Amino acid sequence: MAKILVTGGMGFIGSHTVVELVNSGYEPVIVDDLSNSDPKILDQLAKIIGYKPTFYKLDLCDENGVYQLAEKEPDITGIIHFAASKAVGESVQHPLKYYRNNFFSLLNVLNAYKGKPVNFVFSSSCTVYGQPDVLPVTEDAPVKPAESPYGNTKQIAEEMLVDMQKAGSRYKVIALRYFNPVGAHSSALIGELPIGIPQNLVPFITQTAIGKREKITVFGDDYNTPDGSCIRDYIHVVDLAKAHVAALRLMENGSFTGYDVFNLGTGKGSTVLEVIRAFENSTGEKLNYVIGPRREGDIEKVWGDVTKSKNVLKWQTELDLDTMMQSAWEWEKYIAANPLN
Ligand code: WQD
Repeated sequence: MAKILVTGGMGFIGSHTVVELVNSGYEPVIVDDLSNSDPKILDQLAKIIGYKPTFYKLDLCDENGVYQLAEKEPDITGIIHFAASKAVGESVQHPLKYYRNNFFSLLNVLNAYKGKPVNFVFSSSCTVYGQPDVLPVTEDAPVKPAESPYGNTKQIAEEMLVDMQKAGSRYKVIALRYFNPVGAHSSALIGELPIGIPQNLVPFITQTAIGKREKITVFGDDYNTPDGSCIRDYIHVVDLAKAHVAALRLMENGSFTGYDVFNLGTGKGSTVLEVIRAFENSTGEKLNYVIGPRREGDIEKVWGDVTKSKNVLKWQTELDLDTMMQSAWEWEKYIAANPLN
C-alpha cells in the first residue's frame, strides 16, 4: 500500500484527508505537533477508518527530528503538507512566528526527502489572489501583494516550490488553493475544532446556534454585493479532502511533470447572509445575528473558476451549501455532547 506522509494530519482538513486516503487505498502516516489539534482525533479517526493510523508527534521546525522521521519512514511515495500556522489575524500580530513556523517546517520536509521521487501536495490558499480584478478567479490570475503575513507565507512557499522544480528536483508538486473549507465528515466524528473564539464564519454560526455564543455579527452589509454582505466560495471539507487524492493520482500518472496549481472551490459565491439563511433553513435552527461594522482586512468578494480542476485534476465538488451547514451542525452537536478532553 502506498504510504503518504500527512503533515498537520490531525487538523481540520488533514484529518478529513486521512479518511479519504484510506478510502482510496493509501496508508497515511500522520505527523503533527498538536499545537492546533487534539490528540483524541486519532481515536476519532480509528472509529471511521477501523484502525489507528501511524502518528508521530513532531514539530517540523526540528530539523534533526524531521531527518529521523525520514529514516523511520523512508518508503514514503507522497507527502501532503498541511502543517502551518493559519490564523490570518494572529499572523498580523506575530509575523515572525508565522515566517519561522511555515517556512522552517516546509524546508525541513523538502530537504529530508530530497532526491526521492516523491509526489508533493502543498496546502495553499485563495488568499494569494487578494481581491481579484476578474471573477471567478482563475489559477493564472495575478498573485497580488499579500494582505497578511499568513497569506505571504503561502505566496512565498509556492515560489519556493516553483524554484525547487526549476532546479531539477525529483519532486513532482501540486499546489492546491483552497477557498473556504467548511462542514464536517458525515459521521460527525471529526470536524473543525477552533481554539477559543472562532475567527471563521461557520464555526461561529454553529457555536451561536448551540448557545456557546450569544449572537453572531455579520461584518458589514454595505459591500457592493446583492445583499451587501461579503461573498466567498464555501467548499465542503470532504470534497476538499478528495481533491488531495485526485492530486496524488494525477502525479502518479506518468504524463504529469513538474509543478501545477489548482483552485479548490465550488465555482459559486455565497454571501454571508445567504450562508446564515442556508444554515437556518437546512437545520431548522434560528440564528441570533446582528449587522456590525466591516472587519479589517476582509476582501469584498471572491469565488473560484474551477474549470482547470475539473478538466485536468479530474475533480469537482459534489456537496452543496445545505449539506455543508447540516454536517457542521451535526458535528457541533456531537462535540457538545462528547467533549474530546
Ligand atoms: C468569511 C466571511 C467575514 C466571521 C479565512 C482566511 C483564508 C482561509 C479561510 C486559511 C467574511 C464573514 C466571519 C463572523 C462574519 N483560511 N464573517 N462574521 O476571512 O474568507 O478566509 O479563512 O487558508 O485564508 O483568510 O473566512 O470564515 O473568517 O470569513 O461576518 O463572525 O464571513 O467578514 O466575509 P475568510 P472567514
